[in-house]
Amino acid sequence: FQVYMAGLQGQRPSLPVDPEALEQAANRAMTPEASGYLNGMADSMRANLAAFQRWRIVPRMLRNVAERDLSIQLFNKRYPVPILLAPIGVQSIVHTEAETGAARAAASVGLPFIFSTASSTPLEQVAQAMGDAPRWFQLYWSKDPEFNQSIVQRAERAGCEAIVVTLDTYLLAWRPSDIQNAYLPFILGQGIGNYLSDPAFRKGLSQPPEVNPQEAIQRFLAIFTNPSLTWQDLATLRQQTKLPILLKGILHPDDARKAIDAGMDGVIVSNHGGRQVEGAIASLDALPAISEAVRGEVPILLDSGIRRASDVLKAIALGAQAVLLGRPYIWALALNGEQGVRELLANLLADLDLTLALSGCTSFAEVDASAVVRM
Ligand code: FNR
Repeated sequence: FQVYMAGLQGQRPSLPVDPEALEQAANRAMTPEASGYLNGMADSMRANLAAFQRWRIVPRMLRNVAERDLSIQLFNKRYPVPILLAPIGVQSIVHTEAETGAARAAASVGLPFIFSTASSTPLEQVAQAMGDAPRWFQLYWSKDPEFNQSIVQRAERAGCEAIVVTLDTYLLAWRPSDIQNAYLPFILGQGIGNYLSDPAFRKGLSQPPEVNPQEAIQRFLAIFTNPSLTWQDLATLRQQTKLPILLKGILHPDDARKAIDAGMDGVIVSNHGGRQVEGAIASLDALPAISEAVRGEVPILLDSGIRRASDVLKAIALGAQAVLLGRPYIWALALNGEQGVRELLANLLADLDLTLALSGCTSFAEVDASAVVRM
C-alpha cells in the first residue's frame, strides 16, 4: 500500500515500474556501446524470457494469507527474501556510482550483493560502503594461483559469506555488438579495478599499472583466458576457504551431481544472462532436471531472465531456493544511481509480497511444483 499511496502525495516513481519500459529507458540513457555490451546475445536471452512465459502460476483461494514471511534460509543464515544481486562487472560504464551505489541499495534492504571479480571498484571499497550488510564474492578462476588465493583472502577479510565460482566464462564468447563497436579494450580498462589493487596481480607486471595500463590489460587477458580448467582444480579452492562455495553456470544435471561430488555447497543454474553460448538452453528449462538430480542435497539458485516477482515464484516452484537478479538493477543504476536501485528493489519486494499472497501462500516453503503449470 505504501507504493500505491505515494500517489496521494502526488509522488510518482522516478523509474518506469514495468521491466520492459525500464529496459527501454535505460537503453536510451546509456551509450550505445554500453547498451550493446549489456544486451549480449539476442537469441539466448529471448529463450530465457520465453521459458518464464511458458510456466503459469495457478493461484489458490481462501487460504488465510494475512500473515506472510518472505525470508529464506541459506547456509545457516536467514535472508529477508529469496533474491540476491548477481555479480555484474564494470558497472562504471553505466553510472559513476557504479558498484558502490548498487551495493548500498542492496544493503538498505538486506539483499546480499555479490561482488564481481571484474568489478570496476576494489571490493574493499564497496564492502566499506555497505556497513555489515550481507555480501558474497564471485571468482573468475585465473591461471595465476597466487592471484586466486589473494583475491579469495581479500573477499574473506571484506566479510563475504560465500564464494561463487563462475564456470562459463573461461573464454569470452562471440558478442557481435562488442566486436562491431570495438568495445572490449574499453571494458577491460574499466574492469580491472579489483586487480590494480591486488599485490599478487601487480607482482606479474614489469611497470606499475598506473604507468602502463596496456600491460595490465594484457596480463588480465592472459590469466583469465583459462579453458584448461577441470573438475579436479576445484580441490585447490576447497582447501583454501571454509566459506560455502557455489558453482555458477551449471546447466546439465550431471554437472550438478559432479559439483556435489567435488564437495561444493551449492549450484547456480545460469546461462550468464544469455551472454556466453548463443542457442543455449534457458536456465529455467534446465532447472527441473537439475532439481531432480540434486535431490535437495545442496541449495540451487537460478538466474538469467528474472524480471519480475512472478519469475521468482516460478523459479522457486521448480526447485530453486533463491534467484539472482541481473540486468534490471543495472538498468535502474544507469537511470538514477543508488536511488534508482533502491526504488527498483522496493518495488520488487512489494510485488513479491503481493504475488506470494495472491498465489495463496504465506511463505516460500509452501511454493512447490503444484503452484505452476507448463503451457
Ligand atoms: C554479467 N554477468 C557476470 N557474471 C559473473 O559471474 N561475473 C561477472 O563479472 C559478470 N558480468 C556481467 C556483466 C554484464 C553486463 C551482464 C549483463 C552480466 C552475468 C550475471 O551474473 C548474471 O548471470 C546474469 O546477468 C543474469 O541474467 P539477467 O538477470 O541479466 O537476465
